[in-house]
Parts: sequence; C-alpha cells; structure tokens
Amino acid sequence: MTESPGIISPTSNVARTLPKSKMTVAKTLRDVLEEEIRGLYSAETQWAKALPDLARAATNSGLKATFLGHFKECEGQVRRLDKIVKILRISLKDAICGAVRSIVEESGERIADFPPGSARDAVLISTAQRVEHFEMAAYRSARRFAQLLGSIEVTELLQSNLEEETEADRKLTDLAEDINPLALSA
Ligand SMILES: [Fe+2]
Repeated sequence: MTESPGIISPTSNVARTLPKSKMTVAKTLRDVLEEEIRGLYSAETQWAKALPDLARAATNSGLKATFLGHFKECEGQVRRLDKIVKILRISLKDAICGAVRSIVEESGERIADFPPGSARDAVLISTAQRVEHFEMAAYRSARRFAQLLGSIEVTELLQSNLEEETEADRKLTDLAEDINPLALSA
C-alpha cells in the first residue's frame, strides 16, 4: 500500500508500535520533557563512549583534538543531565536512544571501508555532525518544554549543553572545510 507523504496510515510503523492500552493514558508536556531527557542522557553517554574511538580513527591532528575535547565536554553534559534527572526525579530505567545507537553502530561499518587518511576523516566528521545535529534538535525542544513548564534551572542547564553542541558542530564544519578538499584525491 502506498502512503501519502506526511500522513500516518493505520498500518505504518508508528501506528504499529503504539500499544492500545498506552494510547488512552493522558500525558502532558512534563512527560514529553521526561522522555526527551531520558533520550538525551542515553545519547550523551553512548556518544561519550564512542568519541575516543573516533579520535583514534582520525588522522588529522585537529580533528583528533576536537573529538577528545568534545569527549570531555560530553562528560560535563552528562553531569548537567544528572542534575536535571535529580531535579525532575526522572527514572533512567531502560532509557535508550536508538537514533544515536544506530549512528554509532553504522559509523563502525563506514570507517571500516576507509583506510586512515582524509577520506576517512571526512566520514568521521559527517558521522559526528549527524549526532551533533540530532542532539541540538533534542536540546532545543527540551529547553522550550522546560521553559514552558517554568523550570529556570533546567532551562539553563539545557541551554549550556545546547551551546556546547552548537560550538562543537561549528568546529567540525571548519575542519571539514580544510579536510574534505584533501580527500578529492587519494
Ligand atoms: Fe553532547
């Protein structure tokens, strides 16, 4: 069956993954924020684990340093998320960000196809920017939810993480400007 763009058919994956019992439970923006934080916590911890591997796989010294610097930042971001988890009394049980898990798993396969060098570095940057953009989008949403819910402290903590992600993404864009042309020829 063909599905029109933007329309969720009753047999789409989204509809299939919604258990009937859960569909009827009333939820609020507080629940949405909680879900975002659980996802972000999982995303950050998975990404922090992967970054040293990306640094090892990189050839360009500036790229290596950027991955290692962002690894340290990620640890600080997890600490901020820890504070939010305590403030909002969120359970992290079974929290898993499937999106970052897929990107990290896929990055291993992508890197394996490229020997060390500029082309591999270009793959590493494109992988890292997928994660950074995902996190930036999630932090923007979560920050707005926290703002609407009136939690200044949570809003500020999320803002700090968002600023670091934005800066990390900018650094990667700058590095790509130098590295990508080097990969035009082997
Ligand atoms: Fe992060």
